[in-house]
Amino acid sequence: MTTIQRVRYIGKPLVFAVCLVPAFLVVGDLFGITGTLGANPVEEILDRFGNWGLRFMMIALAVTPLRVLTGYNWIGGFRRMLGLFAAFYVFMHFLVWLVLDQGIYLPGILEDIVERPFITIGMIALLLLGAMAATSTAGMRRRLGRQWQRLHYGAYVAAILGVWHYWWQVKADILEPAIYAAILALLLGFRLWKKLTRRSLPMRRSAVPAAQTGS
Ligand code: HEM
Repeated sequence: MTTIQRVRYIGKPLVFAVCLVPAFLVVGDLFGITGTLGANPVEEILDRFGNWGLRFMMIALAVTPLRVLTGYNWIGGFRRMLGLFAAFYVFMHFLVWLVLDQGIYLPGILEDIVERPFITIGMIALLLLGAMAATSTAGMRRRLGRQWQRLHYGAYVAAILGVWHYWWQVKADILEPAIYAAILALLLGFRLWKKLTRRSLPMRRSAVPAAQTGS
């Protein structure tokens, strides 16, 4: 088996299954099978999906630095899937807010988006993630050419907005959003350092099709 086949037939299905665990745990806890959602289930589900959305954004952004630092180009093959899981969890977070928190009541939704700046920021990040998810296929990458790369730089903006969104809504203890901010600073700092030192990232040889990688 070649590396690309191992990634495609073993690595990807395995990572896919692991990425679904947080969602299954929410469902399991909802029915009291794996645990409980506590006294305020809606807030608990909202928070869990939001946290996993942010975690997957960080994990997806860590793929390129890991690939460059280790020299294992096959790691790049997981980036698209991890990015899509980030979008999935953020979308679920949004759906919980829309349906369970707001009851799809339009005036309340619009008031929240306009009057609570952390929600406005979250919405912008969600729209960016949606645009990237919709154009993440190899066909769209080919069709959009240079525009695709520009659009997908949106991942950095969405991650900054995601951390900002979290930071803005915490009341007292800023430790957790500060940890995310530090991780994000490292991940973006690595890219900036690469750019400034003009060291081009190593070529992704044959291990993974170009359409599934990128920086
Ligand atoms: C990239 C986009 C987003 C990310 C990464 C994200 C992430 C998070 C995180 C990590 C939290 C804190 C959870 C906790 O306290 O443990 C949170 C809270 C919250 N998010 Fe988002 N979010 C995003 C977009 C949105 C959107 C689009 C909405 C709704 C329009 C939204 C609504 C909320 C609300 C209402 C809370 C507060 C929950 C509470 O009071 O406990 N978020 N989000």
